[in-house]
Amino acid sequence: MLRLFALVGALLLVSTPSLAQSSAPAHAASPGAVLSVELTTDGDGRPSYTVARYGKPVIQPSRLGFLLVDAPKLERNFAVVGQSTRSSDTIWEQPWGERRFVRDRYTELRVNLAERGGLKRRLDVVFRLYDDGLGFRYEFPDQPSLKSVRIAEELTEFNLADAGTAWWIPAGEWNREEYLYNRTAIDQVGAAQTPMTVRTDAGLHIAFHEAALVDYAGMNLTRVEGRRFKAALTPGLDAAKVVREAPFPTPWRTMQIADSAGGLVMSDLILNLNEPNKLGDVSWFKPTKYVGIWWEMHLDRSTWSTGPKHGATTENAIRHIDFAAKNGFGGVLIEGWNQGWDGDWFGAGQDFSFTRPAPDFDLERVAAYARSKGVRLIGHHETGGNAAVYESQLEDALDLDARLGIDTVKTGYVADARGAQVMGDDGLVHFAWHESQAMARHHLRVVTEAAERHIAINPHEPIKDTGLRRTYPNWISREGARGQEYNAWGQPGNPPEHETNLVFTRLLAGPMDFTPGIFGMKTRSPDGVPTTWAKQLALYVVIYSPIQMAADLLENYEANPKPFQFIKDVPTDWADTRVLNGEVGDFVTIVRKDRHSDAWYLGAITDENGRVLDAPLGFLDPGRKYKAQIYRDGPNANWKTAREDIVVEERTVTSADTLTLNLAPGGGQAIRFVPVR
Ligand code: NOJ
Ligand code: CA
Repeated sequence: MLRLFALVGALLLVSTPSLAQSSAPAHAASPGAVLSVELTTDGDGRPSYTVARYGKPVIQPSRLGFLLVDAPKLERNFAVVGQSTRSSDTIWEQPWGERRFVRDRYTELRVNLAERGGLKRRLDVVFRLYDDGLGFRYEFPDQPSLKSVRIAEELTEFNLADAGTAWWIPAGEWNREEYLYNRTAIDQVGAAQTPMTVRTDAGLHIAFHEAALVDYAGMNLTRVEGRRFKAALTPGLDAAKVVREAPFPTPWRTMQIADSAGGLVMSDLILNLNEPNKLGDVSWFKPTKYVGIWWEMHLDRSTWSTGPKHGATTENAIRHIDFAAKNGFGGVLIEGWNQGWDGDWFGAGQDFSFTRPAPDFDLERVAAYARSKGVRLIGHHETGGNAAVYESQLEDALDLDARLGIDTVKTGYVADARGAQVMGDDGLVHFAWHESQAMARHHLRVVTEAAERHIAINPHEPIKDTGLRRTYPNWISREGARGQEYNAWGQPGNPPEHETNLVFTRLLAGPMDFTPGIFGMKTRSPDGVPTTWAKQLALYVVIYSPIQMAADLLENYEANPKPFQFIKDVPTDWADTRVLNGEVGDFVTIVRKDRHSDAWYLGAITDENGRVLDAPLGFLDPGRKYKAQIYRDGPNANWKTAREDIVVEERTVTSADTLTLNLAPGGGQAIRFVPVR
């Protein structure tokens, strides 16, 4: 089956170079002629591009180019000296993911630009056009007049043709990626992070992001005027935001473009624009669910630091391992297991040891016990943002993990923005932004060192996801948004619309370790956990991640076996994914097929408004009967007053049926469809 796909793919790969020597505009269309781009130069030789969909402008003329630290800018006086197109249609297999096979079908347009005078520098712009979006990147060729490239700023613009609404979080602010989403007119956006999603008044959905962020600074968007946005690169260690030796490509600047909000979620653009798997067989990583010594610290019932309330004791670890083994969870996360938590670690991290356990935690014994029970420990490397200290211990730490059978490590970079610390080329430690070029390098170093030891990595306070899991499939998940933890703390948590925003923004970038599954709704936060129980269950389907935590205290699961059953059943690896309905920030219904059985799972969530949604079951095998195990909001369910009101019931259904989903305010619904023999 696989070999057949590869063959079909290879046969469809056609290259149609067409060289032009003039400054005529360069032009290309996506394989199904949905999207088209054009690149031209103006009278001053400034290159700009446009994007149209079915011939209608989406992006109006938008500039391209660079400001350099130590050389004249790359923007004026250019001519198009060559262009070529090529098309490709292949199918590749994800080792794990939201669908097993991904079609990668595009038209590529390469435009060669050259300065007409002066330094006669050259720059290529490469577009990849898909029917559901596009990416473009710059490629700096090897050339005598531009060897070392020190980029002060990118001049790339995105000039939206139509008015509409935008969902965005601010860029460059102290709390990194952990903000609630703004919903404003497009021309009211400030400085935004990506993914930023817009819906035009005509209903077109566009998500701006980037793909393959390797050895480069993360890109934000600033609004220049009206609906014109400009790339704003994350600052570096000095005046240069990016320092590279040519030849090299930049990351892809991406736009996913769809008629519906769900169309954005269905797009594989970000993954397709990344390089294929460089690690080979990664079957050593097994998607799984996990429990852990975690929520109890966020509730302040125990501490990461040592002392009378220390959470990571040998005894507590063994209790969690027993629970995991009994209930079919593959992993147990243990935070606070190591030395370094006792002082002021936030944004500091100099005391952390990633090999020495706390005195009341018998690491060897706990690891041996986990192995004997067939459960894997999930390691935890909180760095306080100190990548320099972490890198100095990295190999020893990962060697230890590998020896103990710890095959997944959650890393953490708790520090305010620009509070990460990295070792510079000058041998000195520098403060850095979490999405700087230095941190992009750091994360990839951790991921590749871990891969050599068959360890998977899940960073919190990470660099943004740009689809690198395709190339490095041990980079399995990450945080990078406000997760469940915000509902624990003594401050307002995530409002009920938060997850319906995440699906169409942050989650377009890739998997998130959100940590759903809370039944204990009273927390330190004034609103507690502002969802119904049914919504907590639905999040396991709605939010994709190959590792999903059952985040609550074990006693809350022990006391509620009926709803807990769904958490036990739901897989974390999928053969297929479809979006049945959805609107950004309002509601969404997603169905996914288990990769290892014929079962399907449905998750539907809503914001603070109750809703009635239709779920046509046409995704099920025709002519087959399924037992639908339904976990729905009860008649009084409401995120404010009756979060625990859940009905668990069974029905027999077929693909011809349409279910009516009644979602309470702040509610949801989760369903497992199992074929009846
Ligand atoms: C923040 C992470 O998001 C959270 O999961 C973790 O428990 C703390 N940092 C401590 O590392
Ligand atoms: Ca966090």
